Amino acid sequence: MGFIFKFILCFTVLTCASRVAAQCPVGWFGSKCQFMCHCESNAHCDSYGQCPTKCNAGWFGQGCQYEDLTTVDGALISTSAVSSSTSWLTDQDVTTCNEDPSLDSITVQWDKPYPFTWLRIQAKNLSAVDQFKFLFTTSGNKSHNCINQLQAIIDSVTVDYRCEINDTVTRLIITGPSLYSVCSLYISGGRNVALKQIAQQTGTYTFDNISYPASLAVDGDANPYFHNKTCSHTTDILQESVPPVSWTLTLDTPRVINRITIYNRADCCSDRLSNFILEILDTNNHTVWSYEGPVNASLVYELNTLQQKPVKTIRIIATRIEVNTKPPLVTLCEVFLFGDCEPGAWGLGCTSPCPTECRDFCQQESGKCFKCLGYVDPPRCTTACLPNTWGINCQSNCSSSCHNTSCDKVTGVCDKGCSGYSNPPACTAECASGKWGHNCSYECSSFCIRQTCERVTGLCQYTSETTATTATTVVSDPCNCPGLGPGIGIGIAIGVVSIVLVDIAIYFIFIKRRQPPATVNDPVEKTHGTQLQQYDSLKENTQYKPHYETVDPIDIDKTSVTQGSTSSPYENEVAPYERYSPKHNK
Ligand SMILES: *[C@@H]1O[C@H](CO)[C@@H](O)[C@H](O)[C@H]1NC(C)=O
Ligand SMILES: *[C@@H]1O[C@H](CO)[C@@H](O)[C@H](O)[C@H]1NC(C)=O
Ligand SMILES: *[C@@H]1O[C@H](CO)[C@@H](O)[C@H](O)[C@H]1NC(C)=O
Ligand SMILES: *[C@@H]1O[C@H](CO)[C@@H](O)[C@H](O)[C@H]1NC(C)=O
Ligand SMILES: *[C@@H]1O[C@H](CO)[C@@H](O)[C@H](O)[C@H]1NC(C)=O
Ligand SMILES: *[C@@H]1O[C@H](CO)[C@@H](O)[C@H](O)[C@H]1NC(C)=O
Ligand SMILES: *[C@@H]1O[C@H](CO)[C@@H](O)[C@H](O)[C@H]1NC(C)=O
Ligand SMILES: *[C@@H]1O[C@H](CO)[C@@H](O)[C@H](O)[C@H]1NC(C)=O
Ligand SMILES: *[C@@H]1O[C@H](CO)[C@@H](O)[C@H](O)[C@H]1NC(C)=O
Ligand SMILES: *[C@@H]1O[C@H](CO)[C@@H](O)[C@H](O)[C@H]1NC(C)=O
Repeated sequence: MGFIFKFILCFTVLTCASRVAAQCPVGWFGSKCQFMCHCESNAHCDSYGQCPTKCNAGWFGQGCQYEDLTTVDGALISTSAVSSSTSWLTDQDVTTCNEDPSLDSITVQWDKPYPFTWLRIQAKNLSAVDQFKFLFTTSGNKSHNCINQLQAIIDSVTVDYRCEINDTVTRLIITGPSLYSVCSLYISGGRNVALKQIAQQTGTYTFDNISYPASLAVDGDANPYFHNKTCSHTTDILQESVPPVSWTLTLDTPRVINRITIYNRADCCSDRLSNFILEILDTNNHTVWSYEGPVNASLVYELNTLQQKPVKTIRIIATRIEVNTKPPLVTLCEVFLFGDCEPGAWGLGCTSPCPTECRDFCQQESGKCFKCLGYVDPPRCTTACLPNTWGINCQSNCSSSCHNTSCDKVTGVCDKGCSGYSNPPACTAECASGKWGHNCSYECSSFCIRQTCERVTGLCQYTSETTATTATTVVSDPCNCPGLGPGIGIGIAIGVVSIVLVDIAIYFIFIKRRQPPATVNDPVEKTHGTQLQQYDSLKENTQYKPHYETVDPIDIDKTSVTQGSTSSPYENEVAPYERYSPKHNK
């Protein structure tokens, strides 16, 4: 009976069906068994990665997939509390919390630099989540606040913070009055997005009927002893006309990668993994980051890429010249790529799109909005932008080329038509001569010279050259223009009357001196034509050039970061960058 009920339930809930279908080996989960369990005391996880008790030390988050930099080797935590014990902070237990009411700072210090992306605080009292302050020390010994701080409330005790530190950090200090209620702290080191992805190599080595395929480098086992059969190995048979010997990993969806760890073999022959070239390619096969291995190989390579562009392919190319005309070899015991979903996607498989309120960027486990597109109140995103504003947290002003400066709260395009431009909703094409106003749907007054006018206000426009030597001045002429305020209208009326009076006076003086002309159809226009000798047909009006702000601040070219990151702190492992010139194809 229970089985039948479960069966029906799973049949109706599609995701459940696909998850149940995957009978994963012990220690693995996911629809393709592509995720590794990280449970305390190696307990088995369920099909969602959830552990019976808690995550293994050093892991946290959804399915225990995120590496925790507060407990990584070389991390040192200290607090301002009287007691020196900090185990309550890192025991993954939200019921063991700070006991010292005077606690006002927590410091995490690392013995080597790490890229920072986000951190998680669990606290008894989330009513003051805005009051945490984060101070970072970068590997260049610079201090940074949390730049462009974003926060997302995950549940009643959990809040995530994201900072844009485009640098590796060696220290983080958290301060603020809310610290008294803190129970747990996690700092994300990303999750291994290389695991069980599609790996290929140029020819596979076989020995004693045992082959060493490319997939052994992403099997989750970093054991560095080759004969334990956990390392990939390219063929030692010299092949003719093959591409350079290489190992290539293709990710099922593009990911952002901040950190790479490569385990070389340690039993023998580790010198083979020197002088290699590591390339990271985007979906268009353009290199977004590259690295040249050193002359003397390391057993473990730890590289910070600080790469925020989505990555699709990782390739390791052998360039070392082997003696005895043997082919160069690539042997990899494990490749870890620590990163996360590309912006706009979330979930363990990075297949869920972010909600429309924050479609370019959301919390990568829950899909919650860190910031709100079209809403003013992150992380809740419930209050829509005020009129004339749009974008992330409504920080952008609508373009003045929009009618009534009104635009779409999410996209920023003019939603009520244009003002002085003819092509809604883009509003980039200025009104043709003789047109003005809302979508250029009004004709300039026939009283305007050549029936042209200012394309936003409809005011007649011409230049008068007062003398030959002084500069021309722009004069606005009323000419029966609609849409003017009463004050301006009166001023304009007085102007009209005085000009007409002057014109009439000149006209009478003219008549007095000469014989009257036969017929004058439009005295106003005619006198204007003679009085004002020069007329600039249309003044270039730069004020109304369209102005759009980009919606997404995340996916921007990172080439400068890329370049800088090669002079990373792993000096002994970083060969001079000039030796291999990276291809920053755009
Ligand atoms: C939570 O914090 C707020 C402001 O800091 C305070 O007013 C409130 O009493 C606190 N609640 C608890 C249960 O400590
Ligand atoms: C970093 O800068 C601080 C002062 O800002 C200085 O006291 C400290 O010695 C510096 N540390 C290193 C490793 O340069
Ligand atoms: C390799 O496998 C083949 C066929 O399965 C067998 O005949 C051969 O003896 C094996 N060689 C070794 C070294 O095990
Ligand atoms: C791996 O190889 C080493 C050395 O050969 C051996 O001591 C160790 O037990 C092996 N480990 C596994 C998991 O096979
Ligand atoms: C990238 O390169 C691979 C092989 O090198 C090729 O199969 C793939 O089609 C290329 N992708 C693009 C977008 O050019
Ligand atoms: C590489 O190792 C050799 C021998 O151990 C040493 O003489 C040489 O200086 C090293 N080269 C570099 C660049 O570290
Ligand atoms: C938006 O307009 C307001 C006033 O109209 C101004 O204070 C603010 O700086 C503008 N913001 C941007 C991003 O231009
Ligand atoms: C212009 O926008 C304001 C809000 O900024 C609004 O109150 C007003 O109704 C709008 N006027 C028209 C004609 O759309
Ligand atoms: C201007 O264009 C917008 C968008 O196409 C339209 O909604 C609006 O009614 C137009 N207004 C006028 C006066 O043509
Ligand atoms: C971080 O890098 C991104 C992309 O290059 C850039 O848009 C952003 O302004 C940078 N932030 C800081 C604080 O430098």
